[in-house]
Amino acid sequence: MDLKLFLHRERKRGWQRSLSLSQQYFDWICNSRHRRAGILHLEVDLKMTQIRSSAGSRYMQWAKLTSTAKYNLATSGMVNLPLSALGVTLEELEINGPTVYGYDPLLKALAARYRAPQESVVSAMGTSFANYLALAAVTEPGDEVLIEEPTYDPLLGAARYLGLSIRRFERKPENHFAVDMAELERNFTSRTRVIVLCNLHNPSGASTPDTAMSELAALAGKNRGYVLVDEVYRELLFAAEPQTAFHVDPERVIVTSSLTKAYGLSGLRCGWILAAPELAQRMWRIHDVHAATYPFMAEFLSIRALEKLPDIARGMKSLLDENRSMLKTFLAGREDLECFWPEYGTIVFPRLKHGNATEFCNLLRSEFETSVVPGEFFEMPDHFRIGVGLPTADIRAALEQLERALDGYKSSLLARV
Ligand SMILES: Cc1ncc(COP(=O)(O)O)c(C=O)c1O
Repeated sequence: MDLKLFLHRERKRGWQRSLSLSQQYFDWICNSRHRRAGILHLEVDLKMTQIRSSAGSRYMQWAKLTSTAKYNLATSGMVNLPLSALGVTLEELEINGPTVYGYDPLLKALAARYRAPQESVVSAMGTSFANYLALAAVTEPGDEVLIEEPTYDPLLGAARYLGLSIRRFERKPENHFAVDMAELERNFTSRTRVIVLCNLHNPSGASTPDTAMSELAALAGKNRGYVLVDEVYRELLFAAEPQTAFHVDPERVIVTSSLTKAYGLSGLRCGWILAAPELAQRMWRIHDVHAATYPFMAEFLSIRALEKLPDIARGMKSLLDENRSMLKTFLAGREDLECFWPEYGTIVFPRLKHGNATEFCNLLRSEFETSVVPGEFFEMPDHFRIGVGLPTADIRAALEQLERALDGYKSSLLARV
């Protein structure tokens, strides 16, 4: 039965008859003083039931099952790093080790890298899980969160799964996808608990300076709330001393990140959260409900990776510089694409000026064996995302395919008129 109709009927009946609900709900419903609250409680409960069964991320599913192709421009990370690059011998590896609330040497290494107290570091299974833990720790079901649009779809999925009320603030192409404070303030309410964004931005690659982050923290502070910033792509700056918005306001800003994107180390799942120690404690408790500990071997290898990070970063940066310059030349020659050029990172998010971008992405895949990320996964179906972190020869070949596909599509559009 339709939920609204059901609730309407039950309200009219005064909730007198016995429902197959738990005693707790029955008590609420039958207590006339709480009748209205009881109805709300039931509404929330029914919604929560639906939230679980419809949980997921369409984008994540697509990325896992259908994003690969012979020519790959869909990946946003750098080329996979082989195990041999870490210089670890088999004899050094152990299956089990002293990992409890994280592996102490790894937490220390991360704390040192980001100049944060160790009590502020929480390990997480990649940035995605870090985002979930962080959101879970600072909200209760029904709380309001203000999430950038477009954004990384699993952030929306996590907020929905946690039963949060989602509001959005736009990052507009005509504004170079910048965070616009006026737009944020327009959508910020007295109930906003967390402002959520990515830096660098996914899908556009736009960067948000820490001066803007400090304005966001001040805004969140009006409600004693938080800013959650996913900095997984900020690692692509390959700075000798990595910067993080955590220091802008360690009480209000929560940062998530990982080694996955910039260093080709997705398989290690080495993610983390930087948060005020009290929040960090809460995240560890929530983690306890989901998993016991992390795979020790991955934590051990992550320390090796962190030790070698300056070398790894040098190699990745030189590869990315070359690929970005190729991509820039490519985009400059395409009048059919309108594209904001970000200062850093692997990704760009052009708009196809004519025709239908979803149709074009399908054609690109089926006829030219090339994948990009369709803009529909970022709620902007007239765009698509290109990523250039893979080996230069592969990116060159993929861009040639993209060139052919765009030319072919343009001709087919002309033939239609
Ligand atoms: C903004 C953003 N955060 C997190 C992730 C996933 O990171 P991880 O592999 O560390 O979970 C992605 C992957 O595409 C992403 O785009």
